[in-house]
Amino acid sequence: MSTVRTSADPTRRRAATTVRRDKAAGEFLADVLEGLSKPQKTLPCKYFYDARGSELFDEICEQPEYYPTRTETAILDEHLDAIGETMPPGAVLVEYGSGSSTKTRLLLDRLEDLAAYVPVDICDSHLLRSAWQLKAAYPRLTVRPVCADFTKPFRVPRLDGRPRVLFFPGSTIGNFGPADAIALLTGMAEIARPGGGLLIGVDLLKSPHVLEPAYDDAAGVTAAFNLNLLERINREFDGSFDLDAFEHRAIFNADDSRVEMHLVSQTEQVAEVDGTQFRFATGETIHTENSYKYSREAFAGLANRAGWRVETVWTDPLDYFGVHYLVAE
Ligand SMILES: C[S@@+](CC[C@H](N)C(=O)[O-])C[C@H]1O[C@@H](n2cnc3c(N)ncnc32)[C@H](O)[C@@H]1O
Repeated sequence: MSTVRTSADPTRRRAATTVRRDKAAGEFLADVLEGLSKPQKTLPCKYFYDARGSELFDEICEQPEYYPTRTETAILDEHLDAIGETMPPGAVLVEYGSGSSTKTRLLLDRLEDLAAYVPVDICDSHLLRSAWQLKAAYPRLTVRPVCADFTKPFRVPRLDGRPRVLFFPGSTIGNFGPADAIALLTGMAEIARPGGGLLIGVDLLKSPHVLEPAYDDAAGVTAAFNLNLLERINREFDGSFDLDAFEHRAIFNADDSRVEMHLVSQTEQVAEVDGTQFRFATGETIHTENSYKYSREAFAGLANRAGWRVETVWTDPLDYFGVHYLVAE
């Protein structure tokens, strides 16, 4: 974890960044080796987001099948005045998984009394580029980017003891199973107390005919995003995955109320990562992502268990997506 202003001395700053990158690479390799050793092979979805993965995610957001981005953006746009009235005045906006901070611009344009913006993301290149662009577009705004894995403890700048409103759009909460989602939301409530809140986008349960294409667009961008994970492993850990020998698959698992993404081995094969060999049968999969879908009631129950009360939910006419404002109790 590091904030951009770790030290005024550039040599110390570079050294701190190198230590953080080495630690992150070590954790990534350990997670890959552990995940590929399980009976159902898995890879954590947070590793999708290297520089290329972040670019591909931005392209996914523009695909016609990917309704979440345009739906959430429209809800925010329509209800920002009410959202602003719900939030405490003079708050610091802390965004989890800020990516390109595109939706944030709506908030920055319309919520004039925000004291500062703290984007938090695991992908440092994308985070810093977006932060610089925001700084240029909003010269009077204090922007304090934090490169961190938000599933682990990290420090959020205090900034004059002002209330913190956490912003967690994109239904990224859906990437976590119920226990991990409660743990993450519990940690967020601790950061928001006292007096803060959480503005969170949640993808709602709907027909598999809408859900599955959203994660398997006709242009093949989500497939490229999924396969980029193997390319990243090849590049960073001397891996030998044959990208042509795996195919992207997205399926709705109704029992668990989630869309699953997999990489399906097209043949019997062996792939090596950092000197360790992994054997694949034809049709065997690596499970790379879950996107849990909630009813409003189910999400409210989850939030309650993590110490939050649902203050307001704004939705779209089709009830595809819910933007929730939660208050930490
Ligand atoms: C689904 S994208 C959402 C991006 C953007 N907030 C939006 O609404 O379009 C998830 C974002 O969270 C970041 N991310 C994923 N897992 C993370 C983690 N464990 N810690 C920090 N950032 C993470 C990714 O780099 C990416 O920018």
